[in-house]
Amino acid sequence: MENITELKKVRQDIIKDYSAKDILDTHIDKEVSKMNDLQYVIVKDIIKETDDTKSFILEPDVSKGTRELAPFKAGQYISLKLFIDDAYVTRAYSLSSSPSEALKNFYRITIKKVPNGLVSNIMFKDIKVGDGLTISKPMGEFGYNKIRDEENVIAIAGGSGITPFMSLAKAIKDKDEECSLTVIYSVKKEKDIIFKDEINELNKNKNINFVITLTEEEKDNYLNGYINEEMIEPYLKEFNTVLMCGPKGLYQTMNEILLKFNIPKKNVHYENFNVMYEPSEKNTYSLKVIMKDEVKTIKCKSDESLLISMEKAGIKAPSSCRVGICGFCRSILIQGKVKTIGATQVKALSENDYIHPCVTYPESDVVLKLDI
Ligand code: FES
Repeated sequence: MENITELKKVRQDIIKDYSAKDILDTHIDKEVSKMNDLQYVIVKDIIKETDDTKSFILEPDVSKGTRELAPFKAGQYISLKLFIDDAYVTRAYSLSSSPSEALKNFYRITIKKVPNGLVSNIMFKDIKVGDGLTISKPMGEFGYNKIRDEENVIAIAGGSGITPFMSLAKAIKDKDEECSLTVIYSVKKEKDIIFKDEINELNKNKNINFVITLTEEEKDNYLNGYINEEMIEPYLKEFNTVLMCGPKGLYQTMNEILLKFNIPKKNVHYENFNVMYEPSEKNTYSLKVIMKDEVKTIKCKSDESLLISMEKAGIKAPSSCRVGICGFCRSILIQGKVKTIGATQVKALSENDYIHPCVTYPESDVVLKLDI
């Protein structure tokens, strides 16, 4: 940021002339480029977990130079990078294996099929055992943090949001994490429970307790209905940390419940790979994308992030987490009005003309400079 005055001058020069040849690299950031460290893996096994969920076991692809998988902390994710229709598309998936399994040279990611989901459908239909994939190194801050968090951890999971907590439970079992974990896990029906056998096994550990509630059927050994105050209260202690992973609706309901229990906001942490935004008016604008060797003008819709618009137009815009966390998509807004959804830090950067296209929506015609 100390070069901001200089950068602004460079930007003014850019505005004078949009020729790609004259554009200097104004914000190559060493930290961001580190995140680009890729790992090449081979699908060693595919496990059907439920009707719409599969786990993929990934091991290093030595033929492409990846000898060992990078270690990770329970709660972290990898970003899967697929080349689809002449463009790279990325999706973030929490690791559902334990950190100690990475040392045995495998990861597990667990993917739920999303109706019309581009990447999840390819993973379900096209990816077979033996296929090679490109993934990022593990990233993210979600999970239990010994220094920051209370030792009594309540995890609230909806559907495939169980994945980071499966990793955390395994880490506790392996003594890689020292906390007591209660996972309150909501699914529609018994057949939708992911990792059912593993959960039964992990429940034998005195520091791990999975409590499952079914929202669309009543069965013995399960709670019934959406997660509510009565389900959480028995597991609260004087000091608690709450971790949440699931659909947005779950977060809204839980926040109201947690307020009643007076759990400070600083003790509540969320994982969310879905940014939802509904503009009051739907419009289509023009998006001029300045790259190192090319300038492209495409259309962008007010209810689609700039990243999605670029991907649809075949522009290989950088991305990783897709929810404004990793900073990897950071670009320069040269012209135009935009709406940024997300964390304060992302908003602060936008005041200096840096934006994160994964969480940024157009409110006028836009000119953007990418580092590609
Ligand atoms: S892709 Fe991570 S901040 Fe945009």
